[in-house]
Amino acid sequence: MSRPERTSAAWLQRESKLTLSRLMPRLKSRFSSVTGTPEWAAFNERLDRRFGVLFEALHELYGSHYDFFYHLETILDTMTEMWLERSDDLKALDATRESDPQWFQSRRMFGATGYVDLFTGDLSGLRTKLPYLSEMGITYLHLMPLFRSPDGDNDGGYAISSYREVDPELGTMEEFAKLTPELRRYGISLCLDFVFNHTSDEHEWARNALAGDPDYQAYYRMYPNRTMPDSFERTIRSVFPDEHPGCFTYRNRIRKWVWTTFHNYQWDLNYENPAVFNAMAGEMLFLANVGVEVLRLDAVAFIWKRQGTNCENLPEAHTVIRAFNALVQIAAPAMVFKSEAIVHPDDVVKYIDPDECQLSYNPMLMALLWSTLASRDVRLLRHALEKRFALPADTAWVNYIRGHDDIGWVFSDDDAAELGIDAHGHRRFLNDFYTARFKDSFAHGRPFQENPETGDMRVSGTAASLCGLEKALAEGDEDELELAIRRILLLHGVIMTIGGVPLLYLGDEIGTLNDYDESDPERIGDSRWIHRPVFDWEAAEKRHDQETPQGRIFAGLLRLAQIRQQNLAFTRADTEIVDTGNNAVFGYFRQQEGQSVLVLANFSEREQTMSARRLRLLGLRKTVTDIASGRIIIAQQELSLEPYQFAVLLAGR
Ligand code: GLC
Repeated sequence: MSRPERTSAAWLQRESKLTLSRLMPRLKSRFSSVTGTPEWAAFNERLDRRFGVLFEALHELYGSHYDFFYHLETILDTMTEMWLERSDDLKALDATRESDPQWFQSRRMFGATGYVDLFTGDLSGLRTKLPYLSEMGITYLHLMPLFRSPDGDNDGGYAISSYREVDPELGTMEEFAKLTPELRRYGISLCLDFVFNHTSDEHEWARNALAGDPDYQAYYRMYPNRTMPDSFERTIRSVFPDEHPGCFTYRNRIRKWVWTTFHNYQWDLNYENPAVFNAMAGEMLFLANVGVEVLRLDAVAFIWKRQGTNCENLPEAHTVIRAFNALVQIAAPAMVFKSEAIVHPDDVVKYIDPDECQLSYNPMLMALLWSTLASRDVRLLRHALEKRFALPADTAWVNYIRGHDDIGWVFSDDDAAELGIDAHGHRRFLNDFYTARFKDSFAHGRPFQENPETGDMRVSGTAASLCGLEKALAEGDEDELELAIRRILLLHGVIMTIGGVPLLYLGDEIGTLNDYDESDPERIGDSRWIHRPVFDWEAAEKRHDQETPQGRIFAGLLRLAQIRQQNLAFTRADTEIVDTGNNAVFGYFRQQEGQSVLVLANFSEREQTMSARRLRLLGLRKTVTDIASGRIIIAQQELSLEPYQFAVLLAGR
């Protein structure tokens, strides 16, 4: 008989049980002051339940290290210490969320995202604007990175110098500590980034590395000469080729090449080193303890590197996340993960799992909504979603039409080819369309990271500017204005109702336009800043005035938010994409708790019809109500949809 393989499931299970029983007495003696309490019992129960998953993941990553058990014990210590530091409030929330693991699937979930400085100046300003968020029904707030980062260029805060200190321009840790319980009182779950692929080169670890400390140099990926960087660069791509071609930066002081995927001041962490995992676990649980309920895992695709590969989406990247997830489920189960994988749809979906990321951005839906708006043809959207929208139970999409980053055309070439669409040509068309190089385009966007050799680029722009509002206002064209507003509402209508958490970029609710100001030298060369303007509170004052675009967009969005909140069909994610028989009309059924609705979205500026036969085929009988317009519809007759109409038919099927 052959010896059992040291990684077989049975071996791992046995070993994990044995290890826990070996480690427990030591853990108990170190934390003896709390081990008699009921909350310790709850913690212990979670540890028992999840340790196997944690062990398996860590064993896969670090099992071959001679001091694996030492690292394992250190990680358990970090986790226990951080759990002990957790406030009673948050421990209570842990219990609530454990009894309702689907909490983020509620139809009350409605997210907003923005920068603290651009939205309200600072953290104390933000506290005064919580009523504004409440007015819209926001229940989830993603704040862009608000921790200390280098002065000047810092990638919008994505170069973090300390995960435990608030950027002094935004306020203090004390102010931040006041904000989070207040958000909870407003029923708003806080989402923050875990920028865990890299730190800034001013982080203490990087400073120590620069001072020559080998332990901290091992926190990063550093090479004495170009041999390894050259070898890696043969198979990896540049993320920001304009500002930072290649992926390595030479630091004279230490005479080493440092791995810098994004910018030269963002140093990639080395997760092959278990000390890095442990240190980052501490930072992550610190974020959980300040009250983060949704942790946005930034740049997940890049965290593991292996020679000869493109160093994106490697299996170990998933394992690292699974290990972090297990830690959280033991020490801070109120928090869930959201993956930021803006990559091929086949790879996006691999991060979505209750044991990995419960939530994920849906970049394909985002890209295809814009694609459909440009082509007026829903076939690619329908086909791709039919194949790819369904997710495992207990997970959900975060649906958005734009964020703080650029828009990239992340759909699958194969999906396009199955419909006879040449993906390359279609992307070129979309780039031309959204940067107004295409003659009849309504959109005003700007190229981002344009590669003149290949013609590749991504697109920057606010929702309103890309939907035609900027052009309509510049030309004073009332009809175009109406169409632009309808486009904005159409796209938001889809993300509000298709299943998952809708996420609004703050400012889009009042039709914020692109800001072309280039007076800040740090922003030149990064067109993403055109769609990150300072929030215009004066314009927001007009939100109740139906004579203004702000008022019309705001009211339209509120209506959509109400439709979502008030109808059982919008709980959870079961969505059936349907063929409406009209290639300009996108449609899907949502059914939940006995309620069934058919959502229809006309993606063209022309009136469109659906035949009575098709309505019957879709099971609609007699009369139905469009709860978006209040109109009664007779299903035995042809249905006509106005330009860009978004309809929600409440149906008995
Ligand atoms: C993510 C962020 C982006 C940032 C990058 C590096 O993609 O969304 O803004 O530049 O990570 O941290």
